[in-house]
Amino acid sequence: MKILTEHINTPGIETLEVYRKKGGYTAVEKALKKMTPDEVVEEVKKSGVRGRGGAGFPMGMKWSFLAKPEGVPRYLVCNADESEPGTFKDHYLMKNIPHLLIEGMIISSFALGANKSFIYVRGELMYVIRILEKAIEEAKAAGFLGKNILGSGFDLDLVVHPGGGAYICGEETALLESLEGKRGNPRNKPPFPAVKGLYQCPTVVNNVESIATTSWIINNGGDAYAAVGVGRSTGTKLISASGHINNPGVYEINLGITCDEFLNSDEFCGGVRKGHYLKAVVAGGSSVPIVPGSLFLKTANGEDRLMSYESLSDGGFATGTMLGSGGFIAFDETACIVRNTWNFARFYEHESCGQCSPCREGTGWMQKVLNRIEHGKGSMHDIDLLVDISKKIEGNTICPLGDAAAWPVASAIRHFRDEFEWHVKNPIAATQPGAVYMKE
Ligand code: NAI
Ligand code: SF4
Repeated sequence: MKILTEHINTPGIETLEVYRKKGGYTAVEKALKKMTPDEVVEEVKKSGVRGRGGAGFPMGMKWSFLAKPEGVPRYLVCNADESEPGTFKDHYLMKNIPHLLIEGMIISSFALGANKSFIYVRGELMYVIRILEKAIEEAKAAGFLGKNILGSGFDLDLVVHPGGGAYICGEETALLESLEGKRGNPRNKPPFPAVKGLYQCPTVVNNVESIATTSWIINNGGDAYAAVGVGRSTGTKLISASGHINNPGVYEINLGITCDEFLNSDEFCGGVRKGHYLKAVVAGGSSVPIVPGSLFLKTANGEDRLMSYESLSDGGFATGTMLGSGGFIAFDETACIVRNTWNFARFYEHESCGQCSPCREGTGWMQKVLNRIEHGKGSMHDIDLLVDISKKIEGNTICPLGDAAAWPVASAIRHFRDEFEWHVKNPIAATQPGAVYMKE
């Protein structure tokens, strides 16, 4: 099923003209002319679509939490700050088919009663910002944005705002701070943005992919969307696949296909590169636990694991990973888990905003200890020390960056402890260029 990417390879699809020829903006016409905002919310609720940024929170439920005090403006903010290592699917959508996001923004803003909405794009993607701005100009000229859209009485001003290149500004409250012109420090929740968000007004923050689904849902109905997928993981999901696979790229999958099909079929990853085998997988971006390849393909009970929110996390952190943002990274046996864990830890140390001590200090300590082990100067005690630090960070911070830094370290040691120990016991061999621990 191709809900988001059916037309993505059509030449000229980034233009309003071609997008319209492929049925674009019919959902806006239907929503604004034939439906009430509450009916739009109802369809999205029925679809069961869950937030595609990583948390998987039901989108319709989030919309229904939006406070509606009299005389107070409401805002819709699209989180296009995609910065999770291994995740590049929103980038793919925005650069190739910008009108799909704009159409979704119009429908969603109408549903929420927002007359000014924002797309907050990570600063490094300046060329994507230009693409979006051009598409917005086209949509405005055609009467899909601005005052009294299609004679419906609904007004919408849509603004594209560049971020400054900080990963933490993808966290929704840091994003709102940044949008207000301040340093991107996450806020304590509650209050959730749905109650106090942008400029202290009720705000919905949704991911690019989530918003882009709304056109299809309005055209085809929430029930049709819910009929795709498995269980509470309805619809399709974009997965950005990278690492030691034959076909890296962005794929739209039906939620519920087996992990084996995703990894090995030619339609998707095309298998691990020839002559190698799957050692480990990060299924949902660097923030989720890393698991051995065998546990990615089969659950601890020996059942086929599915590409769904529930199945990927089956077994909890002992044996499962998470679908997260859909940033799939495959590692074959030539990858050094210690080096990779240190690499992720360097990233989180650099990106911590520094507001809370467990994250500010803990990410730095983990990075330093991993650096020691990777460079042949670690001790056995250091391995336990890493576990201890990760436990002290987890659950003790203002925003999820702390957990995101702790989980990759804790899971790497849980599943690949022998590799860490090998680095400690064989410091000279472990520090040779390209050295990798091979299980007997
Ligand atoms: P969360 O679970 O705290 O919240 C999910 C959403 O539901 C938020 O918008 C929140 O405001 C809303 N929500 C939850 N409970 C609510 C309530 N009672 N009332 C009103 N609204 C409520 O997760 P969060 O912090 O939004 O996202 C964390 C995830 O982000 C991680 O799991 C990770 O996978 C992902 N992530 C994605 C990145 C990317 O580049 N796409 C980067 C970093 C992390
Ligand atoms: Fe900042 Fe880290 Fe605390 Fe999040 S967890 S608020 S990034 S210090």
